[in-house]
Amino acid sequence: MQNIKQYVEQNKQRFLDELFDLLRFPSVSADPKYKPDVLETADYVAKKLSDAGADKVEVCQTSGYPIVYGEKIVDATKPTVLVYGHYDVQPPDPLELWKTPPFEPTIRDGKIYARGACDDKGQFYMHVKAFELMMQNGGLPCNIKFMIEGEEEVGSSNLEIFVKENRQRLKADVVLISDTSMISMEHPSLETGLRGLSYLEVEVTGPNRDLHSGVYGGAVANPATILAKMIASLHDENNHIAIPGFYDDVIDLTPEERTALNDAPYDEAEYKTDLGVDELWGEKGYTTFERTGTRPTLEVNGIWGGYIGEGAKTVLPSKASAKISMRLVPNQHSDKIRDLFTVHFEKIAPKSVKVKVTPHHGGEPVVTPTDSVAYKAAQKAITESFGKAPIPTRGGGSIPIVALFEAELGIKTVLMGFGLDSDALHSPNEKYDIYNYYKGIETIPLFHKYFAELSGS
Ligand code: BES
Ligand code: MN
Ligand code: MN
Repeated sequence: MQNIKQYVEQNKQRFLDELFDLLRFPSVSADPKYKPDVLETADYVAKKLSDAGADKVEVCQTSGYPIVYGEKIVDATKPTVLVYGHYDVQPPDPLELWKTPPFEPTIRDGKIYARGACDDKGQFYMHVKAFELMMQNGGLPCNIKFMIEGEEEVGSSNLEIFVKENRQRLKADVVLISDTSMISMEHPSLETGLRGLSYLEVEVTGPNRDLHSGVYGGAVANPATILAKMIASLHDENNHIAIPGFYDDVIDLTPEERTALNDAPYDEAEYKTDLGVDELWGEKGYTTFERTGTRPTLEVNGIWGGYIGEGAKTVLPSKASAKISMRLVPNQHSDKIRDLFTVHFEKIAPKSVKVKVTPHHGGEPVVTPTDSVAYKAAQKAITESFGKAPIPTRGGGSIPIVALFEAELGIKTVLMGFGLDSDALHSPNEKYDIYNYYKGIETIPLFHKYFAELSGS
């Protein structure tokens, strides 16, 4: 595989064109109106896996969106890498904030702008192209299996059944995922943990109908005001979460772990400029890296109620709602946190309103090993292709399948992401640098090479 760079150079344009075709599918899993597009995307992914040389390619039906599977077993005595990714994307809203349409990929300043450019189409497709490259350029050092799903952005609710029903087919020595971020291209890194998630929706109901805010205002509790107060009370003055028992299972990092984590390069001024904020916010006593990677959090994802159309309407709303998520760290459990939240939220509601809490999805936190053969292979691959050893970091996002693979199949994961936190995942104008795309395609074959070598085959 001496000619990795050369193969990428020769096929550069086609690699980009194929990614653009993939990005043109509006595969939004959250919104049923995109259903035909999501299904077409699965077929496109299956075709591309076959074209690249995969065997047994199948669009596996589930009760939700299908999972695309494909494999190439070169030698049963060699180790097997299971590549996981997702072809679904987040809704593109708010559309008016996109400089160019989300499903018409456009290059500006060396970056690909499109929904899914980084999360996760641009990233999982690097594996498909790296696979093609290995097939055309000396063969595979390891066996490879692909599992590309279509419901990651909505909680992967059908994945557990699929994994349980396909234990044999999914058997592998490691799971390899590119769906996380690096610190920067100058500071390559490998994420060694992900937070879990507990997502709920709350509804506060006051009077049995929307009321004239002049006729009744002052005499009846306004559910929007009550909801705002209830939400505000969920953090104390130090920005700790004020739900009894919330931190009970959290394991504090050792001083050494904290030092190591905070050793990673971080430019607070740049961080603030990128986000357009004058001051950062967070739990007292912790750094930004700790707050996003190793501490649990509670966020309001959306809040609504009453009149939100054009102009003004004088109304005292009957209902107000919010979508609330909590990010969890190792040893916390999403079901337990969901229950603690529910009990607490019902308890703090004043008698003037009724409260309904509806759980959405959950996912468990993970830490991935840094002493495994697979992690070392990733370290070597990145060191060779970036000319620098990767810094271990903790990711703030969630990929619930990682804990599931470990629990159900006993397989650990390597998170070898090539995105950047500033790539605007889930935001308008999501992007992925063309440089990162090619760099990923060059680095992945090195992972397979070193994983085979270090596994002793
Ligand atoms: N790729 C992200 C997760 C991610 C992003 C991890 C950046 C680390 C760094 C993934 O697609 C995602 O968005 N996951 C959801 C969870 C899901 C249950 C909806 C998330 O983190 O909100
Ligand atoms: Mn993702
Ligand atoms: Mn995502």
